[in-house]
Amino acid sequence: MSVLEVDDDALSRAARVLRSGGLVAFPTETVYGLGANALDATAVQRVFAVKGRPADNPLIVHLASSAQLDRVAVALTPLARELAARWWPGPLTLVVRAHPDLPTVTTGGLDTVAVRVPDHPIAQALLRRADLPVAAPSANRSGRPSPTTAAHVAADLGDAVEVVLDGGACRVGVESTVVDVRGDVPLLLREGSVTREELGAVDAGEALLQASPGTRYRHYSPRCAVLIAPIGEGPQVAAREAAAGRRVGLVAPGEAPDGVVGTARPQSAEDLAVVLYDALRSAEDAGVDAVVVEAVPEKGIGRAVMDRLRRAAASE
Ligand code: TXA
Ligand code: MG
Repeated sequence: MSVLEVDDDALSRAARVLRSGGLVAFPTETVYGLGANALDATAVQRVFAVKGRPADNPLIVHLASSAQLDRVAVALTPLARELAARWWPGPLTLVVRAHPDLPTVTTGGLDTVAVRVPDHPIAQALLRRADLPVAAPSANRSGRPSPTTAAHVAADLGDAVEVVLDGGACRVGVESTVVDVRGDVPLLLREGSVTREELGAVDAGEALLQASPGTRYRHYSPRCAVLIAPIGEGPQVAAREAAAGRRVGLVAPGEAPDGVVGTARPQSAEDLAVVLYDALRSAEDAGVDAVVVEAVPEKGIGRAVMDRLRRAAASE
């Protein structure tokens, strides 16, 4: 694998790799993605193999702009066009009817496709240069915390990827909001930094969530236990765990007590979104048995953060 500082040469090389069926990891405003030409079934198949991802969990297709929507989607609703105009480029993914030319492996065999236009300048430059729709899940091994730095990508994927474009740490830190926009109200499939209030979205309901494959699988889990502490109680919960003889990490606004490894001190839900996955990975690197993460209020991006945290803490 080559981890490249991003300049004109690096972008050209990465675009060439994509156009010739290879894999490129690149930064977006949310997390790093593992990209392949969405129209090349063999290339997309490699993404699944490299991640160890179940074949029925489809990928998000990334576009340089909404002008390319018609290459991957059909029968766009007025709602889809309205949300694309309002939020793209940005951390919002729209589930729409898939273009029949999209390979089955890209859509996971569904008749829908998830699409977004990222606003990260490196993602934008790469998508423009490659001039392709790029299928890109988060660039982690399946089930692990999503990567928010190039080093996280390298730790998970090693030589399985030709090129990693290094854009530093991601601005948002949790994955995009996903809404189904085939009807006249957005149906929320995954919380993100674009909130349900901002979208006027409603819960997708059990049937649709079942059809949204990603929600079925283990997610975001480091190689240590994750414990959620109530708001304001992170240090006490960590101290209690340490007193019981466990090696403990702490992610909380307050100071880590003696004998506890503090891995991040986020002061808001926005901060926690940015550092969460890095803090989970640091905790595992520090060799703790458990990392205690202090909860944040479930409003704004706090809903997405608590969603990810609960999944990380779930034992299955
Ligand atoms: O922020 C993000 O969205 C990042 C960056 C790289 O863009 N990507 C990302 O991809 O999080 P991934 O593969 O880790 O998550 C994609 C989610 C999964 O939950 C998947 O099940 C869902 O989107 N999804 C994909 N296609 C879908 C579809 N046709 N219908 C419903 N859900 C879909
Ligand atoms: Mg993912």
